[in-house]
Amino acid sequence: MAADMKNLSIFALFLCLLTISKLHFSDSSKPLSGFSLKLIPIDSPDSPIYPGNLSQFERIERLVQLTKDKSDYYVQFLSRNATFGGEKFTIPQYHGAGHLIGQVFIGTPPQTVYLIIDTGGGLIWTQCEPNCINCFPLLVPLYNSSKSSTYQRLSCDHYLCSGPNNLYTCDNGECIYDVSYGAGGISGRTKGFASMESFVFSADRGQRSVTISNIIFGCSKDNEKFNDMRIHGFLSGILGLNFSPDSLYSQLQLLIDRRFSYCLVPFIQEEPSPSIMRFGDDIPPPRPTLQATTVYTVPNFFYYFLKLFDITVGSLRLHLPQNAFIPIPGSTTTGFFIDSGAPITVIDQHTNGGVNAHEVVISAFKQYYDSRGLQGSPSVSDFGLCYSNPPDFFEHPTLIYHFEGADYAVEGRNVIVNFADFFCVGIQPGVGSSILGANHMQDIRIIHDGNINKIQFYPEQCSYDHL
Ligand SMILES: *[C@@H]1O[C@H](CO)[C@@H](O)[C@H](O)[C@H]1NC(C)=O
Ligand SMILES: *[C@@H]1O[C@H](CO)[C@@H](O)[C@H](O)[C@H]1NC(C)=O
Ligand SMILES: *[C@@H]1O[C@H](CO)[C@@H](O)[C@H](O)[C@H]1NC(C)=O
Repeated sequence: MAADMKNLSIFALFLCLLTISKLHFSDSSKPLSGFSLKLIPIDSPDSPIYPGNLSQFERIERLVQLTKDKSDYYVQFLSRNATFGGEKFTIPQYHGAGHLIGQVFIGTPPQTVYLIIDTGGGLIWTQCEPNCINCFPLLVPLYNSSKSSTYQRLSCDHYLCSGPNNLYTCDNGECIYDVSYGAGGISGRTKGFASMESFVFSADRGQRSVTISNIIFGCSKDNEKFNDMRIHGFLSGILGLNFSPDSLYSQLQLLIDRRFSYCLVPFIQEEPSPSIMRFGDDIPPPRPTLQATTVYTVPNFFYYFLKLFDITVGSLRLHLPQNAFIPIPGSTTTGFFIDSGAPITVIDQHTNGGVNAHEVVISAFKQYYDSRGLQGSPSVSDFGLCYSNPPDFFEHPTLIYHFEGADYAVEGRNVIVNFADFFCVGIQPGVGSSILGANHMQDIRIIHDGNINKIQFYPEQCSYDHL
């Protein structure tokens, strides 16, 4: 196991050295060491299909369903005992339309595409004209490689196409990929040409735009399902940020000093505003309140797993078994990972030692609210614990995740999901895995630092972060 991981990281470093030597920057006056990407909430005015009149209820219902699909697939994937053999790197993505949508500019001249930003995913891909065999229609134009002077196919002798650790395969002299995703409304399969293209990002905190050439991405020609993207009408692909060698993170890791960061603006608000994904030196300097916890990997998964040891609700420490969330031999759980692409946090019902951690956490919230005389309200979707909203009640308990070496506190107002007349505790039950979802990242600066294999974080008012 340990040997596998070591080989993997050496391999990743090797790839990245190869990659970096091929990158070129448009503005050579100043070396590029960081850039940013605007994340738009799916239903914000920045969205090309701003729905305008979705109710608060409809917005939340949508987020719940998206997370459920992701967590179901993750477990499904594990139970079918994944291998990287036959179906070469069917990357374990369950995925779909989380609410983090990146507005990405690809090609020369740049074409705008909207991609799901997925810290759980690897390949960067978008539906691709001309001669798309099976592209689902969008309300916005598709990326067209014929309109770009910088588009190139990846050659078959590229290390990602040949050799022992190839992600893609060579077919009739073309380097192609074939990646399957998830279950439910967000499942799908995409095939296409492994390619290279220039991407344009914003740099120096919005003061200039920079072009990074030769980023490997997928020009997808055959797309099955992805019903969720079809429904939204403007999402044309996925941008992965996990440890896979073809993710944006891995490809640019030297350039960005192996660091990226985001601070999610509270997303249930009247006027959703963009969050900013920052890479390398575009990340703000750390604050004194910064804490850090170790990220670990699980073989065959490119996710960011965290060591969660215990949880506190309000002033009640739950004293869960220390290894409840840690995959150990004989585990019933696959671990706890952080995934900005999952809108709602999931806590497993089958944690180690026969403990139902989800139930323990929910009971603590129930005890807290019942003792304050709040009136229960019918459960909604996957939220089992809901209460009527009394006027002027703001004493929602803080939720603290006790990670190895760091306490991650989520303020009460971000723990709950507020439906105006009533609210629910914003945690969904998991069946085999737990996920720190985007709702528990609101107003927290999160920095992934691959140099020290840690996630760092501190509270921040994210709406103050602008390009
Ligand atoms: C907005 O509401 C109106 C009236 O209910 C409805 O006809 C319309 O389809 C809605 N628009 C969207 C984008 O949902
Ligand atoms: C997974 O596959 C390995 C190798 O084929 C096998 O040894 C193991 O028992 C399988 N595990 C499960 C849970 O099926
Ligand atoms: C793609 O771009 C080429 C060159 O401009 C154009 O001829 C072609 O019609 C475009 N295809 C589509 C499907 O937009």
